[in-house]
Amino acid sequence: MESLGGLKRTQNCNALNTSHIGQEVTLMGWVMRRRDHGGVIFIDLRDRWGITQVVFNPEHNAEVHAKAHDLRSEWVLAVRGMVCQRPDGMANDKLPTGGIEVMVNELRILNSSPTPPFPLDDDSEVSENLRLKYRYLDLRRPSISKNLVMRHQASHAIRTYLNELNFLEIETPILTKSTPEGARDYLVPSRVNAGKFYALPQSPQIFKQLLMVAGMDRYYQIVKCFRDEDLRADRQPEFTQIDLELSFVDEEEIYQIGEGMMQHLFKATLGLDLAQTFPRMTYAEAMERFGNDKPDTRFGLELVNLTEIVKDCGFTVFASVVKSGGLVKSINAKGRGAELSRKNIDDLTEYVAQYGAKGLAWVKVKEDGEWQSPIAKFFTDAERSAMGEALDATPGDLLFFVADQPSVVHQALSELRLELGRMLKLIDSTLFHFLWVTDFPLLEYDVNEKRFSAVHHPFTAPNEEDLDKLESDPGAVRSRAYDLVLNGTEIGGGSLRIHQQAIQSRVFSALGISADDANDKFGFLLQALEMGAPPHGGMAFGLDRLMMILTGSESIRDVIAFPKTQKATCPLTEAPSSVARKQLTELYLRPDWKE
Ligand code: AMO
Ligand code: AMP
Repeated sequence: MESLGGLKRTQNCNALNTSHIGQEVTLMGWVMRRRDHGGVIFIDLRDRWGITQVVFNPEHNAEVHAKAHDLRSEWVLAVRGMVCQRPDGMANDKLPTGGIEVMVNELRILNSSPTPPFPLDDDSEVSENLRLKYRYLDLRRPSISKNLVMRHQASHAIRTYLNELNFLEIETPILTKSTPEGARDYLVPSRVNAGKFYALPQSPQIFKQLLMVAGMDRYYQIVKCFRDEDLRADRQPEFTQIDLELSFVDEEEIYQIGEGMMQHLFKATLGLDLAQTFPRMTYAEAMERFGNDKPDTRFGLELVNLTEIVKDCGFTVFASVVKSGGLVKSINAKGRGAELSRKNIDDLTEYVAQYGAKGLAWVKVKEDGEWQSPIAKFFTDAERSAMGEALDATPGDLLFFVADQPSVVHQALSELRLELGRMLKLIDSTLFHFLWVTDFPLLEYDVNEKRFSAVHHPFTAPNEEDLDKLESDPGAVRSRAYDLVLNGTEIGGGSLRIHQQAIQSRVFSALGISADDANDKFGFLLQALEMGAPPHGGMAFGLDRLMMILTGSESIRDVIAFPKTQKATCPLTEAPSSVARKQLTELYLRPDWKE
């Protein structure tokens, strides 16, 4: 192998065009492709920026040409040569450098490489595990590296926007105490405090509130958060939040800042102009119309409530569900009756069964308006026409019904709605539909634990109008929490916070947390709230989820340099791994260790 030997790079591999013809240049990069054309060797030299064709011609320089015979994929080169126009008919208008090539006079082989375990072009299908094991090779592929470039542009745009608005970027601890965001904690044993543990932060929630008590007024941080939860396509055990907190504000000001940040971000990354303000919907309306608190509003297929109409009908499944406090809701796949076969409907019935639906009743509306359906016979003319009217049913429509307890109906039908949206190609992937979802309930009843838990986190302010219900009817108290939804994904959430110790204590008690427990876990926060805490609120955006949408990626892993698998492992470093017995002893973790 050779050294640089004083060669200095003059341009990157995406920089040269016909205006450089006749110049001597020095390029460095990796061999992406090597072609031997009747003695002349062509190499596509690649770096982070792009590709340049470099040429080794025996008639031009026999010695350099002979050396080029050894070159293989992914070898690292420095080449010095002359920029030439490509011969007639050989130009490639798909590449910025496609009009030129570099005729090489000097070649330095800086490093070699065995044949890579998978082809590094963008067209090959490669298993994700293999890609992650050799992530440093995978990241040479333009389709992945461009995501990291856009991620950098996004963080930069966000920092610029928030700096201009007088926010301070302040770091908060990673080795800390448990923060209650509802997931399991990652724990770190302490060596110098026998038997004690730090928790990695699920979010900087408590610290950012303390920074408001400290008078910092406007804080932000682009920060890693850690949650030990079951992973999905849009979840990672460590992920990045754009975390904000502000003093002396109400919801309106926070919405404005969130909207401004999204406008700035979309302009800087995609060059897109978003609307000045985003639509809003209460949680109750989102559940009623979409069965979901993060509705994808790019298409219709809304849920229609038929409970009142069918409460005394002859179809016992429906009537008995209503009697036991359940709901009957429906979706009209408008004009799509002819497209879906019995087999499709059977598949959809299986699909909704995963979400707990005990069946999926359906009706095809025939040309003459008659209902073709296994359940048509159970309804009176009056019931049929009232349902038809509620659903705006006309010939050619296909209606779906689910009857069950509200949580099952909503989950099954909201998933059916998304599945139908995909099947019937109703979702325009070029659209960006933002939606603020507001007025979340403060608490929800956990049937397993037999107590209320916080829908967001326990520091969320209750709506003042509902404060008197905190003890008498906790489930009916609305909160001052909001989420920002983009195309059906929750990309951010936040709230106004409780800044008075007395209300914080009442919420802890509604959550079934005793005064002693509250003191033990959050005593420092309760004390800080007593010492001149200003009214404050904020929110956090999921940077990885945002990047997934901005780059059009299918998986959150495609926008993270070194992501974890669905099993929270890293195939590259093989983390998590076992450790030496000595380390365990030092950390007081030996299974047989006794105090
Ligand atoms: P929340 O828990 O809603 O709020 O998190 C904020 C946003 O972070 C993203 N997110 C995730 N992204 C990837 N993988 C995960 N496992 C994951 N979990 C959450 C989501 C989510 O909207 N402290 C509060 C914010 C506040 O009240 O200010 C909080 O953490 O996009
Ligand atoms: P059955 O009387 O069980 O044969 O059901 C008649 C039709 O009603 C079938 O298409 C079932 O899928 C449907 N069905 C059964 N239970 C429910 C339910 N809880 N909600 C909606 N449809 C149902």
